[in-house]
Amino acid sequence: MPQDKTALVTGAGRGIGRAVSLALAKAGYTLALTARTEEELLSVAKEIQDSGGEAEIFPADLSKESEINALTDQIQSLFPVIDLLVNNAGAAIFKPLWELSIEEWRLSLDTNLTSVFLLTKAFLPVMMERKSGRIINISSVTGLKAIDRQAAYCSAKHGLNGFTKSLALELRPYNIAVHAICPGGVDTRLSREAMPHRDKSNWMTPEDIAQTVLYLVSLSPRAAVDFLSLRRFDSEPLA
Ligand SMILES: NC(=O)c1ccc[n+]([C@@H]2O[C@H](COP(=O)([O-])OP(=O)(O)OC[C@H]3O[C@@H](n4cnc5c(N)ncnc54)[C@H](OP(=O)(O)O)[C@@H]3O)[C@@H](O)[C@H]2O)c1
Repeated sequence: MPQDKTALVTGAGRGIGRAVSLALAKAGYTLALTARTEEELLSVAKEIQDSGGEAEIFPADLSKESEINALTDQIQSLFPVIDLLVNNAGAAIFKPLWELSIEEWRLSLDTNLTSVFLLTKAFLPVMMERKSGRIINISSVTGLKAIDRQAAYCSAKHGLNGFTKSLALELRPYNIAVHAICPGGVDTRLSREAMPHRDKSNWMTPEDIAQTVLYLVSLSPRAAVDFLSLRRFDSEPLA
């Protein structure tokens, strides 16, 4: 597993991002961790450092372009090379379209999609120059199929999958791999808040998604994976 490589994980404070960060640290990556809640980032960083790993935190609101710009400057001054970008931060606003405000629509697209565009654009030039790097977008099964009450989230995640596919083509000459992981239900705060009445006892865990990230980073540069669709063992396959 890689030594002296640096990964930037967004939404690293809890849930999937936390599990991915801990797994990457264990695999030898130095971690740059970002999300809004400083205490959660500190807790993840401490867990990594206590196990002998390296991590720095960069609190920021990724729904705001100005904060992303300031964030990228801070990260790049400490880590000039980001080898792996995990675009994981996300927000779920689930309600029928007729109850969805334009502010909620914008927040969903800004957090789930535009932040990925901005961060990728910021960290890509160094990857392209080095002809080396990997980008993993944590999308959703909602990016592959329709689910009611999720028009904004579904639009953002479909957009994220389109973004992933286009970028994978554009970056082929630069030896940079771009993947999307499309999970179904994972038991996290996001799913508990967005779907409070669903029984989650048989849902996937954040660690299941972290394992998938480790699998992707272990791939040889000859093998290209565009999408990995992960569903609960007892759920219906995608049509
Ligand atoms: N849970 C599921 O069933 C499921 C299924 C498929 C895909 N996903 C995707 O997995 C990703 C992670 O979600 P999760 O389930 O692990 O949820 P979670 O436990 O709520 O974690 C979400 C993370 O994103 C961060 N975040 C949210 N809004 C942000 C913002 N404006 N700026 C910066 N960071 C922000 C949160 O930190 P702060 O609140 O501190 O900012 C938190 O660290 C999301 O992209 C989600 O769409 C989840």
